[in-house]
Amino acid sequence: MATQGVDALTISDLELDLLIKAIYHRYGFDFSHYKRDSLRRRILLSIKKMNLSSISQLIPNILWDPQAFERLLEEISVPVTEFFRDPDFYHALREKIIPVLKTYPKIRIWVVGCATGEEAYSLALLLHEAGISHHAIIYASDFNQTAITAAQQGIYSDKQIELGEHNYRMSGGQKPFSQYFKKNQMHWHISDTLSQHIHFFVQDLTQAEPMPHLHMICCRNLFIYFDKHLQVKSSYLFSESLLTGGYLALGPKESLGTQLIPKVFQLVDEHNRIYRKWPS
Ligand SMILES: C[S@@+](CC[C@H](N)C(=O)[O-])C[C@H]1O[C@@H](n2cnc3c(N)ncnc32)[C@H](O)[C@@H]1O
Repeated sequence: MATQGVDALTISDLELDLLIKAIYHRYGFDFSHYKRDSLRRRILLSIKKMNLSSISQLIPNILWDPQAFERLLEEISVPVTEFFRDPDFYHALREKIIPVLKTYPKIRIWVVGCATGEEAYSLALLLHEAGISHHAIIYASDFNQTAITAAQQGIYSDKQIELGEHNYRMSGGQKPFSQYFKKNQMHWHISDTLSQHIHFFVQDLTQAEPMPHLHMICCRNLFIYFDKHLQVKSSYLFSESLLTGGYLALGPKESLGTQLIPKVFQLVDEHNRIYRKWPS
């Protein structure tokens, strides 16, 4: 009997549910409230890359082979990022948010879904240039262990630095971007000036507890993967984590469900979706 071509493969709701349950019970990651279409697409890509011919082969594969699961997680997690991604967002932070943070004796920031670290380092750079990094701490989390290890290493390619330099300039940066790195043969290593204020850690947001007393949370390009239920649940977690007056930055591609806006959050920058927690 001819085997079905991978390009013709589909994943039924039942198969997807079985895979999600298998992952949850074996590894503890909960994908039950991820948007199903993009999840399906990513799983199909994985099946193709692993040279499998069906999801019924994938399930035992990931159950018994943690490395196969890591490859699947890498595909689902999309750890794509840039230094100063969406330069206008960082321009807004410089102009509107940093002047407020400057008035605080301590600054606690959480970067959720930080991928390979560029977003956390970009924030550390802004705080450094504003002269307030010495009393700031940035917590940066992602559920992808490989991405967190790369973030902790802080090693980037010429291409990443070139794009970072461009974005940094577009965001209003005036200094030589390369001064924040040490060049080592083919690679650029992030300087201690920026890394010393960041604590990277592995964490699955779907199962996270509130992180108290925060002045800002950046959660950009992550809600796009979540369904409405998980977006609202995460928004409540963020509102519990932020101090009154704290900022929630979602970035230009995402917005907060209307459920929370009138009660807890006020929009302070519409284009960049920056909200402020305000007493109701
Ligand atoms: C597209 S990247 C965005 C990176 C960065 N925030 C940015 O905007 O450039 C999304 C990141 O979210 C992470 N992620 C996805 N689901 C997550 C979860 N449940 N908990 C923590 N991180 C998650 C992925 O591993 C990935 O690194």
